[in-house]
Amino acid sequence: VFTPDALAPDDVALRDVLLRLEPTRRHRLLAVVERTVAEAHPTLVARLEAWARRHAAAVTLVTPPAVVRGGEAAKGDPAALDALRQLVHDHRIDRQSFVLVIGGGALLDLAGYAAATVHRGVRIVRMPTTVLAQADSGVSVKNGVNAFGQKNFLGTFAPPFAVVNDASLLATLPRREVIGGLAEAVKVALIRDAEFFAWQRTHVAALAAGDRDALAAAIRRCAELHLAHIAGSGDPFELGSARPLDFGHWAAHKLETLTEHRLRHGEAVAIGIALDACYSAAAGLVRDDVPAAVLDHLERLGFRLWDEALARLGRDERPLVLDGLAEFREHLGGELTVTLLAEVGRGIEVHEMREDLIQRALGELRARDAAR
Ligand SMILES: NC(=O)c1ccc[n+]([C@@H]2O[C@H](COP(=O)([O-])OP(=O)(O)OC[C@H]3O[C@@H](n4cnc5c(N)ncnc54)[C@H](O)[C@@H]3O)[C@@H](O)[C@H]2O)c1
Ligand SMILES: [Zn+2]
Repeated sequence: VFTPDALAPDDVALRDVLLRLEPTRRHRLLAVVERTVAEAHPTLVARLEAWARRHAAAVTLVTPPAVVRGGEAAKGDPAALDALRQLVHDHRIDRQSFVLVIGGGALLDLAGYAAATVHRGVRIVRMPTTVLAQADSGVSVKNGVNAFGQKNFLGTFAPPFAVVNDASLLATLPRREVIGGLAEAVKVALIRDAEFFAWQRTHVAALAAGDRDALAAAIRRCAELHLAHIAGSGDPFELGSARPLDFGHWAAHKLETLTEHRLRHGEAVAIGIALDACYSAAAGLVRDDVPAAVLDHLERLGFRLWDEALARLGRDERPLVLDGLAEFREHLGGELTVTLLAEVGRGIEVHEMREDLIQRALGELRARDAAR
């Protein structure tokens, strides 16, 4: 559900979401808000309480909204997970009640995991507060936490009861986070929707400036494409070894680790997209003029398409980023399956990538960066 401001006096989107299955019942709701978001929007908690009072016939808050730590640190902290489960326990959230979580992708993953594992799963409504989460991770069926030194090591596939994308929540998001989230819109357009890519190119100045309307349109289309994949691909729980929407992600995941998260996910994805676009052309999969268009667009959005971590060599004198390919396969199991570009708007799955061509693509990114 998309809405300009879910807590506005005349907005009933969030209430109607809760009433979907039992329209006449009064629903118990545990609200959890990320601290950074509550601080950036100082009236948010009070507005949430006022919203609940306005819709008292439909909803009752079981306790004042809990303001909790979010971000990657919380996602890797067992105490943060326990604290959420404790709240669910203490306030007797049952399978007919709701958890409402307002926060970035990391808190959504953490709260989603907590909710999915009490009473074998209680209803959760996600209200994502970042571009990345509204456009991509928030509409996914995955959740989880980092453990044993591994990202998303513990987790479940559990569709949320609903996702409410409130555009007003994005007003306080730092520019770096806004731009980062747009990498996923570029990604999904390149493999699924040529028209959407053309639209993004036309509106690149507005997108780079964080224009509210342009962002809203990009987020909506990106979320639709992700949702269409989950609902229509025939493999929402990833039983196969392919992850068709993870174009550009084998290098991105490795870059995030190599840089110890100095690069944000979206920034690493932008580099991964650039690398795989160059590779696709080098391998003869896509027309030679496609990488230039892709790289140009990413740079206009504000991404840098080279990072020194790409040049780091392992003991065997090979770039460490190449290990990302093996790790990508190991994570999914089975045969290596990587999505590359066949044309703008259409991906193609390959089961092998040539190291010499990856090195050539890396060389192109490096030379381009040096020339800027
Ligand atoms: N479940 C999935 O399918 C899926 C898919 C992709 C990524 N993810 C996960 O999503 C997480 C990344 O999510 P993210 O990019 O939203 O990062 P995030 O949750 O870490 O948020 C980024 C930063 O922005 C702050 N913030 C959030 N909303 C804000 C707002 N409205 N105003 C001001 N500051 C705000 C946060 O406190 C944080 O510091 C990662 O943990 C990743 O693994 C999950
Ligand atoms: Zn991603």
